[in-house]
Amino acid sequence: MEKTNVAIVGLGTVGTGVARLLLDHGDRTARHAGRTLWLKKAVVRDLSKPRDVDLPSGIVTDSIDDVINDPDIQVVAQLIGGLEPARTIMLRLLESGKDIVTANKALLAEHGPELFTRARELGRSIAFEAAVAGGIPIIANLSQCLSANQICKLEGILNGTSNFIVTQMDEKGASYEDVVRRAQQLGYAEADPTMDVDGTDAAQKLSILAHLAFGATVNWADIPRVGIDGLDPDDLRFSRQLGYRIKLLALANLADDGLELSVGPTLVRIGTPLAEVRDAYNAIRVIGDAVGPVFYHGLGAGQMPTASAVAADLIDTAVGRTKLTFQTLEYFSTDQPPRVKQRE
Ligand code: NAP
Ligand code: HSE
Repeated sequence: MEKTNVAIVGLGTVGTGVARLLLDHGDRTARHAGRTLWLKKAVVRDLSKPRDVDLPSGIVTDSIDDVINDPDIQVVAQLIGGLEPARTIMLRLLESGKDIVTANKALLAEHGPELFTRARELGRSIAFEAAVAGGIPIIANLSQCLSANQICKLEGILNGTSNFIVTQMDEKGASYEDVVRRAQQLGYAEADPTMDVDGTDAAQKLSILAHLAFGATVNWADIPRVGIDGLDPDDLRFSRQLGYRIKLLALANLADDGLELSVGPTLVRIGTPLAEVRDAYNAIRVIGDAVGPVFYHGLGAGQMPTASAVAADLIDTAVGRTKLTFQTLEYFSTDQPPRVKQRE
C-alpha cells in the first residue's frame, strides 16, 4: 500500500489526539485514503514534557527544520495556537512544498488571506475543518454539500468553553471561576481563555463561516461581540424562570441591505434545539434557499472530536480532496460579496 508521510507540529491537546488516531488506528486512514498515513515527525517546544501518547523513538523533535528539510514529508498538521510563530511556521512549511492541515482559527481569521494566497501561488492546500466547531463537519458542508444553495442565515453555538460554563453555572450552580478552570483542565479552553469567554473565539469562527457561506471577507474584530464573562448567575436563573436559557450565539443573517453579523449572549426558548445544546457541544443551524433549515450538533471542543476533524483533513489532503474547499475560497474571492453591515 502507498504511504503518505505526515508531521504534526504542536503536540498539545489536539496534536496528541491526532497522533493517537494515526498511530493506533492507521487501518481507518488506510481504509478511507487507500494509503497509509505515516507519522514521521512531531515537533514540540519542550522536549522534556511527558506526552500522553506512545510515540516511536526518533519521531519527536524541537526543530521545525527537521520537517521543513525532509522532502519525504508531504502533509503537516500545524497545531500550534496563536499568531506567532504559527504564521511564520506555516509560511515556511508551504514554501518547502508541504500541504497543511490546521485547527488554528485565530491564525486563519487574522492572516487567512495572506496564507491562502501564498498556498495557492505555491500550488499547495490548507485544510481547516477543525478550526470551526471541532468535530462537526461544518466546513465541508458549507463548501461542498450545500454549495448549490444561497445561504440565507446561519446561527449557532461556536464556542464550547462558553457553552460549558453557562451550562454548568445554570444546571449545577457552579461558580464561574471553577468552571473556567475545569474547561482548561478538560482541554476545551484556549491557552488564553479570555478569547473564549469574551466572544473573540466565536467571532473568529463566524468570520470564517461568513466567508464560506456568503463570500464575505470580514475582519473578525469588526463583528459586534459580547461574551459570557459579564453574566451574573441571576441572569441565568431569571431567564430559566421565564422559560429561556442564555446561549452565546453567533449570528449571520443575509438581510436586504447587507450581511448582519454578531456574537452575544442570547435568550433561547427552552425546548428548542439550540437551547438544549449542553456543555462543550456546539450546534449550527443553517438555512439555505434550496435545502431549507439544516441543523448540526456535536462536540465543538476537546481532544478527540477535534482530532477527528484534523485526521479527516489529513486523509482528504493525502488523496487530493481538500482542493475542493480551496476552489470554493477562490471562487468567492472573485465573486461579488454582500456588503457587511457596519456596527450600529
Ligand atoms: P495546546 O494544548 O496548548 O498545544 C499547543 C502545542 O503547541 C504544545 O504542544 C506546544 O508545545 C506546541 N508549541 C507551541 N509553540 C511551539 C513552537 N514554537 N514550536 C513547537 N511547538 C510549539 O493547544 P491545543 O488545545 O492543542 O490547540 C492547538 C490549536 O488547535 C489552537 O490553535 C486551538 O485554537 C485549536 N483548537 C483547539 C481545540 C481544543 O478543543 N483544544 C479545538 C479546536 C481547535 P509544548 O507542549 O512543548 O509546550
Ligand atoms: N476553545 C475553543 C472552544 C476550542 O472552547 O470552542 C474549539 O475551537
